[in-house]
Amino acid sequence: MRKPIKAVLVGTAAAALLAPCTINAFAHEDHGRGSRDAQADTLGALGLRADVRIGTAVDMAALADDEPYRAKAASEFSSVTPENVMKWEVVEPNRGQYDWKEADKLVDFARVNGQLVRGHTLLWHNQLPAWLTTGDFTADELRAILRKHITDEARHFKGRIWQWDVVNEVFNDDGTLRDSIWLQKLGPGYIADAFRWAHAADPKAKLFINDYNIEGVNAKSTALYNLVVKLRKQRVPIDGVGIQGHLSVQYNAPHDIAENMKRFDDLGLETAITEADVRVPMPSDSTKQEAQAEGYDVLLRGCLLTRKCTDFTVWGFTDKYSWVPDTFEGEGAANLFDEDYKAKPAYSALRDDLLLAAGRN
Ligand code: XIL
Repeated sequence: MRKPIKAVLVGTAAAALLAPCTINAFAHEDHGRGSRDAQADTLGALGLRADVRIGTAVDMAALADDEPYRAKAASEFSSVTPENVMKWEVVEPNRGQYDWKEADKLVDFARVNGQLVRGHTLLWHNQLPAWLTTGDFTADELRAILRKHITDEARHFKGRIWQWDVVNEVFNDDGTLRDSIWLQKLGPGYIADAFRWAHAADPKAKLFINDYNIEGVNAKSTALYNLVVKLRKQRVPIDGVGIQGHLSVQYNAPHDIAENMKRFDDLGLETAITEADVRVPMPSDSTKQEAQAEGYDVLLRGCLLTRKCTDFTVWGFTDKYSWVPDTFEGEGAANLFDEDYKAKPAYSALRDDLLLAAGRN
């Protein structure tokens, strides 16, 4: 059962959250309450009061080697997602030889710190092992391989994963299905199969479909919506929709995100922002940081305004380890903290939203 606070928020404080964004520096006064309360005001702790988990993707090398990284990952967030270590190329680099070491470490870290784990991801077209992509398998072989992978991985983590991104990025931006090896060899039915296999292996995990560029109402989010309606009609065990939330200040922030998320909410589905980051053209400056804060703010507000939005996860929290500079030429500085772990305006914007949602403003 959901706590009432979010229902109250959705009902009565929506207008406040929908008000035009202001980029306030965090203005919460301490009133001499000391460090215990200061810790209680982390994003994760505030999120719990607003009935939403605030999570981060975790880079396992940083977690092992960088103490400030580890401390922040533990204290600031109430859920974690492995950035890479549950992906197929990591867990089964050679056919039939599983390596769960790094993923198990993260699951243990989460348990020690009272965090939930988002599993990411059982089925994707990227980061597949070479033996699989170069194997030239028949359709029947590939289907058996996929079934085994999903079953074995979901079973390995059974009972320890809160939400699984079962399928990741299966759509093109125009709303057609992505021309991956899965679609080519297995046909569109592979999506329903993936959910059924995952559910059979771990019946309690919440099963999500996850994608990017589906923040607002557009061809892609509508195609995904139509697919989800169809899957629910066919009684496929799908519980939620993950909206990645990779934004750039060079494009408009998706101000219709709440409207989009409501469609899924009305179907009775859970929703989540699963990979939020807002990149800027480098070098960054204070104007860009304010635009960035607005991007984060729009994403979190979308979640807070949606009844069954369960979590808001950032794709890394420090610019020190971000995937962005390697992927988007000329862009970077996409995270809440800079390379020295100094909080940016985006961090304050999220705190302000959570304080409001938690009824403390
Ligand atoms: C990225 C990781 O952050 C990188 O370290 C890796 O090299 C490539 O994948 N959408 C997803 C994530 O679903 O899994 C991707 O993560 C980012 C885009």
